[in-house]
Amino acid sequence: MPNFETVEVTTDLLIIGGGMSACGAALEAAHWAKKHGIKVTLVDKAAMDRSGAVAQGLSAINQYLGIAEGENTPEDYVRYVRQDLMGVSREDLVYSIARHVDSSVHLFEKWGLPIWRDENGKVIRSGRWQVMISGESYKIIVAEAAKNALGTENIIERVFVVEPLLDGDRIAGAVGFSVRENKFYVFRCKAAIVCMGGAVHVFRPRSTGEGLGRSWYPPFNAGASAYFTIRAGAEMTCQEIRFIPVRFKDAYGPVGAWFLLFKSRATSAGTGEDYLVRNKAVLEEYKPYGTTKPTPANLRNYLGMIDENQGLGPLYMRTEEAIANLAKAYEGDEKAFKKKLKQLESEAWEDFLDMTIGQALLWAAHNVRPEQKPSEIAAAEPYFIGSHSGASGAWVSGPADLAPPEYFWGYENMTTVKGLFAAGDASGASPHKFSSGSFTEGRIAARSACRFIMDNNTLPNVDAAEVEKYKERILRPLDLYEQYKNYSTDPNVNPNYVRPMMYMYRLQKLMDEYCGGVSMRFMTSKTLLERGLELIQMLKEDAEKLAAEDLHELMRCWENIHRTYQAEAHLRSVLFREETRWPGYYFRADFPKMDNDNWLCFVNCKYDRNTDTWEIFKRPIINIVD
Ligand code: FAD
Ligand code: ADX
Repeated sequence: MPNFETVEVTTDLLIIGGGMSACGAALEAAHWAKKHGIKVTLVDKAAMDRSGAVAQGLSAINQYLGIAEGENTPEDYVRYVRQDLMGVSREDLVYSIARHVDSSVHLFEKWGLPIWRDENGKVIRSGRWQVMISGESYKIIVAEAAKNALGTENIIERVFVVEPLLDGDRIAGAVGFSVRENKFYVFRCKAAIVCMGGAVHVFRPRSTGEGLGRSWYPPFNAGASAYFTIRAGAEMTCQEIRFIPVRFKDAYGPVGAWFLLFKSRATSAGTGEDYLVRNKAVLEEYKPYGTTKPTPANLRNYLGMIDENQGLGPLYMRTEEAIANLAKAYEGDEKAFKKKLKQLESEAWEDFLDMTIGQALLWAAHNVRPEQKPSEIAAAEPYFIGSHSGASGAWVSGPADLAPPEYFWGYENMTTVKGLFAAGDASGASPHKFSSGSFTEGRIAARSACRFIMDNNTLPNVDAAEVEKYKERILRPLDLYEQYKNYSTDPNVNPNYVRPMMYMYRLQKLMDEYCGGVSMRFMTSKTLLERGLELIQMLKEDAEKLAAEDLHELMRCWENIHRTYQAEAHLRSVLFREETRWPGYYFRADFPKMDNDNWLCFVNCKYDRNTDTWEIFKRPIINIVD
């Protein structure tokens, strides 16, 4: 094995990840650190300027309440989120983010993010909660502010965090490795905030072969948050709630601006009708959520799938019709009409150029002029993203002033492991935070973590022997490859090891076929899930045989192990919940109806790494808003 230097980093607060929530955490922690002499260190597997889901930029900020402008209240937002997630959300957490989120958006604008405003200076909204931005450089702007606040000397980039270190029931640090140099990292801390995003490529994607890697969710986030918190023994929640976004097909361009700003319809080609209207009778079965506006994201998906399943697809976003409708008011005045048309065309292209450049390229490649021709949309493969319209993540404490006793254990956003906090995609049951809410939740978690450090100002012990064991285990794929690579002429075909790509294909096939992926039209059942669980145990055995040619592949190996834990938590939670609450995200063929009597509750789980066993159980939903 090549010689790996061990680098030890001792700090007070360790922020793990460098995305939106981590930037919020860094900004806030820097403030309290200066005041109270706390040392803060941030570690990211990539470069903060372009890391995480906002890497390509965004075209909208999806959570802005406009409280000061009298537009909305946090209560309104809590009702909206409850509705969108079919009744399942932690209202205390949603409320806490909602009451603070506007101030984060004001900071973004102060730092230079162009927010669209009308001639009176009012933000231009696409929907009730969303504001339009020219956001190609969104992440760079936010990361710059976070870096300035924390100081680059406290930021470690290109270090992949693998595993938590514990001292009894308290977090003690983390271990990982550099993806550029032969260095093994041991972090010691008094508290840590997990901000490593959600997970993609757990399921077989629609884009395979030459399109592999193209997905809606960013390929850089591979389940590290879920793995870290699960392995630390933290209680997890909503592991069954995946997100299936309907997107412009094959390049995953966003639909929000089309539906909300351009007021576009989506129709199925086989009927020419708006599937939301044509199939609306189905919504009656999902009362009160199905019959209240806005229709939850999963039900919107479902109504489209009904037509697709009858062979009436493809589904089309009627861009040409929407643009014509918006320009209609200017008919008669040729100059004004042309100007309006030009403005609409450029807004349509900017929507993609700001956040999903690949979609603009696909339009160009397919000779699409949105003002002339509709574009196909389709439901994507499942993702795990607690900050969007999914909800998977760690079960965290709510705020002292809002959380009922069942949801409160001392420090807001602390998981059930002492000193271990979670934010953004990493914290569960508080969806619809998006970029601005994730940043805000990072701030909330950091303030709370600093308070924890002041109250528990001792450095937990780290077991040196355990660290050595992790070093051997984490670097083992490099050894395995070196040892056996010459056994066969083609290093890909070798009985002594599994390469990460092959392992990933196996995981994806398993999840797709047994846990309701795209090829199964999102349908699963007890028998399928139980078979999936058998197969995942065998996959886990083979994880011990993952081999890596270089540091990049070593990262790929561990990304896959991270994904596997997310996959197992999902399989178990989907199996446990005996109903179909989110048709359009997944369907339990054996329990096809929503069952409010038995399942209007959270499904939580907990893993014991000493015995490799899972506990799975219900937790009550407590409404704090009428
Ligand atoms: P991220 O911002 O994704 O950050 C995760 C961080 O963890 C990254 O820095 C990553 O490098 C790091 N990391 C991952 N694994 C490791 C590891 N093993 N070790 C160390 N570091 C690691 N929101 C809006 O407001 N408006 C929109 O228009 C919008 N569009 C979106 C479009 C897409 C395609 C997606 C995926 C999301 C969109 N969102 C939007 C939501 C928003 O991007 C997320 O809510 C937000 O980025 C979540 O923040 P986070 O900190 O949890 O994760
Ligand atoms: S994004 O994250 O890639 O930008 P998307 O473009 O789908 O997501 O949606 C942006 C915002 O608009 C989200 O808040 C989403 O819930 C909302 N949204 C999208 N489509 C609709 C719709 N048809 N009705 C109501 N809200 C919608």
